[in-house]
Amino acid sequence: MRFVLNIGLVITIAAGISSCSVDPAIKPVLPADNIEQVVPAGWPQPVYKFENNPLSVEKFKLGRELFYEEKLSADNTISCGSCHQNFVAFAHSEHALSHGINGSFGIRNSPGLFNLNWNTSFMWDGGVNHIEVQPLAPITNPVEMNEDMNNVLAKLNADGKYKLLFKNAYGDEEVTTERMFKSLAQFMGMMYSYNSKYDLYKRGEQGGNMDAQEMAGYQLYQQKCASCHTEPLFTDYAFRNNGIAVNINLQDSGRAHVTADPNDRYKFKTPTLRNIMLTAPYMHDGRFNTIDQVLNHYASGVVQGPTLDPQLQSGIQLSAQERTELKAFLNTLTDYAFVYDTRFKDPN
Ligand code: HEC
Ligand code: HEC
Repeated sequence: MRFVLNIGLVITIAAGISSCSVDPAIKPVLPADNIEQVVPAGWPQPVYKFENNPLSVEKFKLGRELFYEEKLSADNTISCGSCHQNFVAFAHSEHALSHGINGSFGIRNSPGLFNLNWNTSFMWDGGVNHIEVQPLAPITNPVEMNEDMNNVLAKLNADGKYKLLFKNAYGDEEVTTERMFKSLAQFMGMMYSYNSKYDLYKRGEQGGNMDAQEMAGYQLYQQKCASCHTEPLFTDYAFRNNGIAVNINLQDSGRAHVTADPNDRYKFKTPTLRNIMLTAPYMHDGRFNTIDQVLNHYASGVVQGPTLDPQLQSGIQLSAQERTELKAFLNTLTDYAFVYDTRFKDPN
């Protein structure tokens, strides 16, 4: 299935800048208004395919405005973009724990947002199962946006800008939760990240020449990390305990919080390694600031326990040289085309 709305392409052709049509799977930066589903070469089919939510430029635009809208929070100070920042692949720069309304702190680290259409679940514990309901969690969370949906709807209804945006997107001015969440799903669903140096290498494209150090790192990654941080999404979406010590203050039981199964205690969703050099701090509580701290953990910090992943029983040791090689490879996973894509910037 492919939904295509080539407004951007039409504009480019009209302006006479460039004319030929392009395969979305290989074009590094898409035109400003190009809104279409992408399945990069060699990737599995996405879980979410915009069924019952047909893509359109106007719905995407509405979603973009909503993502950066502070009226979604009780005191009109916090937007989704406050904790999910464009320049760090939509993670929260320099914040271990999410920082929401009234200076309050949550218990988890803001993950980067991209390739969400492949997610089988959302949140570190998988507590949310659909991209179209996901925004309800932060909007109503007392330490995030602490707002009531009825208030959000009233605020947007009273705003002339949104009357127009909803009309353009849905044919009439009615502001509804469903329309909001579907538009947000379109905005977030378009956040495809598949143009890192690693991707160019895999597709044999220009700019994808890995040097010997990066190639050695790629091999190390395949031996030591790929069983959980699996290609091409760099996660297997499973819940696992990677042996980080339980944070005494937070007492976060992870997946068990959702399933109430003691066997799931301290298991968290394997995070992707794509854009990993941008999304520090690391782990579900942001306890590590650098990749070296993460590698120190795998080398000598793994805590034994009943739910520890069996693969990490003896940790993962790397020589100094191997460490340098692995980091060189992790650097090739940064997708600058994604981070600089103007479609995702704050429109105001
Ligand atoms: C106060 C900071 C904060 C705000 C505001 C915020 N988020 Fe988040 N976001 C987080 C944190 C922290 C998590 C991880 C939560 C968890 O695992 O329990 C998260 C998780 C997510 C995820 C799941 C990603 C994944 O891979 O599982 C999505 C999607 C998301 N947020 C979108 C949004 C949207 C849309 C908004 C606005 C309606 C928003 N966020 C507002 C901090 C925030
Ligand atoms: C047995 C599965 C497994 C293996 C093997 C593994 N990891 Fe992880 N990794 C995880 C899980 C699960 C988490 C999340 C843990 C948490 O936050 O509680 C994680 C977290 C991370 C993070 C933090 C990501 C973020 O966004 O916060 C990095 C970086 C990381 N791993 C790198 C690596 C590297 C590099 C290797 C190989 C040397 C590796 N991992 C091997 C399961 C694994």
